[in-house]
Amino acid sequence: MPSLNDIRSTFLNFFERNGHRVVESSPLVPRNDPTLMFTNSGMVQFKNLFTGVETRDYKRATTSQKCVRAGGKHNDLDNVGYTARHHTFFEMLGNFSFGDYFKSEAIPFAWELLTKDFGIPKDKLLVTVYHTDDEAANIWKKVAGLTDDRIIRIPTDDNFWRMGPTGPCGPCTEIFYDHGDQIWGGPPGSADEDGDRFIEIWNLVFMQNEQFEDGSMRALDMQSIDTGMGLERIGALLQGKHDNYDTDLMRSLIEASAHATSADPDGPGKVHHRVIADHLRSTSFLIADGVMPSNEGRGYVLRRIMRRAMRHAHMLGAKDPVMYRLVPALVRQMGAAYPELGRAQALIEETLKLEETRFKQTLDRGLRLLDDELTRLPEGANLPGEAAFKLYDTYGFPLDLTQDALREKGRAVDVAGFDVAMAEQKAKARAAWAGSGETKDAAIWFDIAEEHGATEFLGYDTEISEGQILTLVQEGAAVESAGEGQQVQIVVNQTPFYGESGGQVGDTGLIKTESGAARVTDTKKANGVFIHVAEVTLGTISRGQGAQLSVDHDRRSAIRANHSATHLLHEALRRALGEHVAQRGSLNAPDRLRFDFSHGKALTAGEIAQVEREVNDFIRQNTPVETRIMTPDDARALGAQALFGEKYGDEVRVVSMGELEGSGKGTGGQTYSLELCGGTHVGRTGDIGMFALTTETASAAGIRRIEALTGQAAMDELRRVDGELSEIAGILKAQSGDVVNKVRALAEERKALANEVAQLKRQLAMGGGSDEKPKDINGIKLIARRVDGVSGKELGPLVDEMKARLGSGAVVVLAEAEGKATVAAGVTPDLTDRLSAVELVQAATFALGGKGGGGRPDRAQGGAPSLAAADQAIAAVETLIGEKA
Ligand code: ALA
Repeated sequence: MPSLNDIRSTFLNFFERNGHRVVESSPLVPRNDPTLMFTNSGMVQFKNLFTGVETRDYKRATTSQKCVRAGGKHNDLDNVGYTARHHTFFEMLGNFSFGDYFKSEAIPFAWELLTKDFGIPKDKLLVTVYHTDDEAANIWKKVAGLTDDRIIRIPTDDNFWRMGPTGPCGPCTEIFYDHGDQIWGGPPGSADEDGDRFIEIWNLVFMQNEQFEDGSMRALDMQSIDTGMGLERIGALLQGKHDNYDTDLMRSLIEASAHATSADPDGPGKVHHRVIADHLRSTSFLIADGVMPSNEGRGYVLRRIMRRAMRHAHMLGAKDPVMYRLVPALVRQMGAAYPELGRAQALIEETLKLEETRFKQTLDRGLRLLDDELTRLPEGANLPGEAAFKLYDTYGFPLDLTQDALREKGRAVDVAGFDVAMAEQKAKARAAWAGSGETKDAAIWFDIAEEHGATEFLGYDTEISEGQILTLVQEGAAVESAGEGQQVQIVVNQTPFYGESGGQVGDTGLIKTESGAARVTDTKKANGVFIHVAEVTLGTISRGQGAQLSVDHDRRSAIRANHSATHLLHEALRRALGEHVAQRGSLNAPDRLRFDFSHGKALTAGEIAQVEREVNDFIRQNTPVETRIMTPDDARALGAQALFGEKYGDEVRVVSMGELEGSGKGTGGQTYSLELCGGTHVGRTGDIGMFALTTETASAAGIRRIEALTGQAAMDELRRVDGELSEIAGILKAQSGDVVNKVRALAEERKALANEVAQLKRQLAMGGGSDEKPKDINGIKLIARRVDGVSGKELGPLVDEMKARLGSGAVVVLAEAEGKATVAAGVTPDLTDRLSAVELVQAATFALGGKGGGGRPDRAQGGAPSLAAADQAIAAVETLIGEKA
């Protein structure tokens, strides 16, 4: 039985043998397509090749494309787990021709692969064609010998494939597999087509048109092929299964889930295991492609999928986080075909664990609230929208999670009510939001991205450019123009302003048009759109105008220096501390840089000095900083440091700086620092000027944080510290080279003086050394007095000294010091058989309102609330001695 991995290889090998380039799957986050949430079919990465906008050095390609259908238009999330063939993540196998072959070759390719390489019996297959497509029908008849009743003509859009409202499209032919009449269902186009007997396995699209927004369509200059076959589906078929989840790959993940939760994979928790297996794939692949859980956009879809899986793990009785423990099983299954999974394994595990730990804190309470609500509702009634909203807002339950939980109980959510509650909250939030670029309503940027596409960034090469004003936004709404004194967010088609990302802050500067000017105070990015956060300082600026954009040069230069220094710092840390050092966050601002990295303990002074020195060595080396564009594979092969959480497309920027000793440029020598980076950098390392590491602290468990300065700021800092030193030297009246010795001498002198003071206090307490007359009580000598200012721990030695001086007798001292009242007593050894120091302390402390004390018969000590009743305490002591004498 072929495994899913075998089937994938057979497919790709077949088309490679037939002149196709095997192209790597593109990331799940589509590049250059802000309108699409996730890559949802194989043709997405080739979109511009079909329309002729782009050409490559191949005309035939084949891929196994990672696809996610959750969120957005194609949303299969709700059904996953409950059905045989729904997934949030799946692999689409495809072959593509860009103006090369067309129908008469695409159909024989498909037929040969299915019936020969895959060995599917011919009589199990039937096809559909678009009703007017005689050509395709004839080819099927000729190539496959199919009779007319097995070439079904479909007059609907089912056989006219469109990627979306716009873009390449065309009629298609679909291949179906007949599972036999023991399973209910009718052929495509019949009334019973939704049954499970006839299953579509492959869709061949004849790309020959382009659809436009107004509904019109043009014939494309070239005729192309785009096909799509779900690997899980064909896998199930070839493995003799009816259910995609029974294939080897899915089954191994289900078993991993069963093992981790100790719950029977085929028992009552079956659905839960299926949900977990599917969601494990989509979440892991999304994280590997740079999506992180958040409350917006793609990140929120990821969070929804994760939390849905976590609820199902919870229902299996899992007490501790489960999902992250399944990642190794997934990497074992799919890591060879998708190396990005292995590379991101640690990040995937960490992200899942953190999310699950956090969500568990509210999951129980949320589910209880849901149960309470349900018991109050009439039989079969829907959950009110407000309750669903509360679950969302307070307990972090995405709407589909609540719907999923209700599904088992045969109930639904009043979605309209939920939307109303959500809209109300958004209106409140919008009202509270004062129009910074920190906009919560990302929707408008998504719309703008959809309308205009991503902004082109020119700022690697220039700080000044012209651009066209596409949109002006005020308080979350598009406006035609903005006047003097008004805050406005400006979107242009191209810009030299860097939008905040990858730790580098956004640029500031000026935007001028023929009628006005605006000061840009920050630049942000959303869905590829650069948002210039600005205030109009002169006249008005309007949509559609041409504009001149100029970035604040000095500020950008300082940011550049800090960003480049961060790369040198990263490498110096790796060399000083080890390969485990990985970037965990960074800030490249004009005035400073901050770098967080994984490392278990504080750096020693020696390590700090070494790192700082090495960075400065490479600054002085003053070699050019080079930027190259290459494929991610080439970059990794060179050993570039890639950052998780960054999106890498077909091409990445690789920034290199510094030369290792003796290697010399042009000699194929080794580069010191090599990083995948989208930021802006200095021309030569010497432009950084200098580097001063100012602090090294803990940022989180296992993560250290370094702050540092470069250029003039570093110089200023060193000057400041030097100034302080001079001031100290002035106070000490020392030469600056002598300050340390002087301070050390001062510290020693201070210690000696403190000892002397303590001794003097004791002497003073003993009556300044004078011969104090003890009181004689029936032949026992007693010295009893207050010695305020002597601390508790000094009282013992004092009592001993007084006893020694007395020769024979008893001593009681009462002291108030540092806010505490203490009583200490001593009795000389000759008297301890009659009189105990413990009794004396007790008598005194009781009189003071205290609770007594403890010690030995010859010395004891105790505390009291205050010495207000000192006289009574001494009287009590005297009475006691009188009784004992
Ligand atoms: N692009 C076609 C599909 O997704 C093959 O079905």
